[in-house]
Amino acid sequence: MRAVNDTAEAIRLRNVLADKLKRAGRIPSTSVEAAFRAVPRHLFVPGVPLREAYVDQAIPIKKIKGQHVSSLSQPSMIAIMLEQLDLQAGQAVLEIGAGTGYNAALMAHVVGESGRVVTIDIDDDLAARARAHLVSAGYDRVEVICGDGADGWPAGAPYDRIILTVGATDIAPAWRAQLQPDGRLVLPLDFRNTGAQFSVAFDAAGDYLMARSFEPCGFIRLRGALAQEQPAQNSDPEPGAAVGMAMLATVSQVLPKVGEQLWRRRMNRQAFGRPTLDGLQLRAYPCEANYMRKEGETVHDTRWTRFVIGWAPGG
Ligand SMILES: C[S@@+](CC[C@H](N)C(=O)[O-])C[C@H]1O[C@@H](n2cnc3c(N)ncnc32)[C@H](O)[C@@H]1O
Repeated sequence: MRAVNDTAEAIRLRNVLADKLKRAGRIPSTSVEAAFRAVPRHLFVPGVPLREAYVDQAIPIKKIKGQHVSSLSQPSMIAIMLEQLDLQAGQAVLEIGAGTGYNAALMAHVVGESGRVVTIDIDDDLAARARAHLVSAGYDRVEVICGDGADGWPAGAPYDRIILTVGATDIAPAWRAQLQPDGRLVLPLDFRNTGAQFSVAFDAAGDYLMARSFEPCGFIRLRGALAQEQPAQNSDPEPGAAVGMAMLATVSQVLPKVGEQLWRRRMNRQAFGRPTLDGLQLRAYPCEANYMRKEGETVHDTRWTRFVIGWAPGG
């Protein structure tokens, strides 16, 4: 089914955005690039002016008590996570955080008719709207569920891939249980709850998950059973942090590339204690595995997970 409200101008704007993502090296895989060129993003944010729908920025969707609880993520960030996910045609994928349904449509494009996409949102109004957007854009084969993503969606398991497009501080047992033995889990994670969030791609590896890549990000946090209070803005452990942030903002305006590098170093240090993540080895065991820390490793326990941090020699 093709979208009826796709216009020549929307197609042009979409290709301009995709060209920009490509030039920036965000969409190296042809399947992700094709999805960005095909899915009509504007149909997922009806009411937003056409041009705004195709700017490389996040679009707020819903607030509760003045707090943003849903937004359509920035295309660059979506691209980074889809590349981390390494989704293939014919695969089954579960998304937690349906939002507008746009990312689910991109994934449906990548997996094709022989694949399967299930997406969950905790709010029934958002789930209903995501369903309507997906139908209008021609992706009615995506299954939209209203529920708490902490439980995954067992009826559709197992999944080759699970992706969260909402921030977590832990790895729920349901996500491990519903992932194929050779599956991949991608999620915005801040397991020490410091405010430094990274999109981490984990591969299933027997009784643990092994992290493969880390990309700094800033997603809205999970609500429901896995909700955890966000650290206060001024809880930064570094002395002089506020001055540092102000300087970083100024540098970023004048020299965006240098600003990004400085920001990455800051995030790396805040989350992992080092300015670069070269040699970082992060594993995630279920708590009941009772993994015993080895020399040179650091361990951090959350409710469900023992995170084990090690560094390869020379890292
Ligand atoms: C950044 S938005 C996701 C954007 C979305 N992927 C898109 O393409 O528009 C995060 C979403 O996660 C949802 N969410 C928050 N907690 C959740 C939970 N426990 N289970 C499922 N969805 C949740 C929010 O309602 C919100 O819509």
